[in-house]
Amino acid sequence: MAEARAPGKAILFGEHAVVYGHPAVAVAIEAGVNVAVSNNKEWAVEGRPLDSVRHPHLKSIISRMRRGSGPFSFQISSTLFSAAGQGSSAALSVAAHLALRSHIGESSNLIDAARSAHLAEAYAQSGRASPTDTATSALGGCVVVSSSLPPMAKHVFGSELETSEGLRTWDVGTIELPIDSDPPYLVLGFTGNPSKTGKMVAMVADLISSNSERKSDLDSIGEITAVGLVALASAEWEAVGMAMDACHDRLEALNLSTPFLEKLISSVRPYSLGSKLTGAGGGGCMMALTRDPERVAQMIELHGARAMISSFYNEGAQILI
Ligand code: PMV
Repeated sequence: MAEARAPGKAILFGEHAVVYGHPAVAVAIEAGVNVAVSNNKEWAVEGRPLDSVRHPHLKSIISRMRRGSGPFSFQISSTLFSAAGQGSSAALSVAAHLALRSHIGESSNLIDAARSAHLAEAYAQSGRASPTDTATSALGGCVVVSSSLPPMAKHVFGSELETSEGLRTWDVGTIELPIDSDPPYLVLGFTGNPSKTGKMVAMVADLISSNSERKSDLDSIGEITAVGLVALASAEWEAVGMAMDACHDRLEALNLSTPFLEKLISSVRPYSLGSKLTGAGGGGCMMALTRDPERVAQMIELHGARAMISSFYNEGAQILI
């Protein structure tokens, strides 16, 4: 048997603007997905035959295995909220890739895992996926994805994807925090309303095509992300929080927030350095950067959402057995 674990993610700055070539910054969170692989007489998930419609990510990961490998059985356990924009399918794909390679004794590394998982996400999402979730899940820490990386990011790998709109390319880099950076905590609040990333991306595209002034909100997110990145790389946490707040204002102007997200965000602001919706919006999760995680989690739960406290800096994917 082999087992691997991969973390989920939260987007600190740059969601939606990244679709238009601006950078996005995501951080690995503590919660994640474990995948165990063992020999079996047929391909199976949780004791049932593998159904490629229900498990497109696993089907795609298996398709890149050496010919004649398997059949194997997968056991999956997750501490992420499901359908909440925490990158659970990316974490599943990264962990499945690593566990399968380990089980058959084939060497693999985190970049291979990120690339294979990105192809799995693209396969499952009709050919469209950025490498943000998969790279963050594989590499851990703070990850920047952009058409061109800012100078404080350390380049890790280049990524490309053939889409129906042509070849898309990204650079993936990491931000190292200074030693003794004493990061605050992240608290995520899940509204309980799943949000569809594709639908929200399409809504923004419609909005900017009918009202070209709204494009300036995406450009502002790009500028705020650039400022936020400088603050992050020098561990100036108050400035990181201010950039998060500023990103949220622009996301709200793009109609991506909801009354429930607004209620959660305003309830935690007095106890946070910064707070914003995270991911696609329209539901899903909000996040806060705070030195008082218990109080923030309490406020989120008092307002009827589910809270998750995470340390700021977390390891990427690992082979456990
Ligand atoms: O659904 P999430 O949390 O992975 O966030 C999507 C981020 C977007 O910028 C809205 C879309 C994308 O492909 O980057």
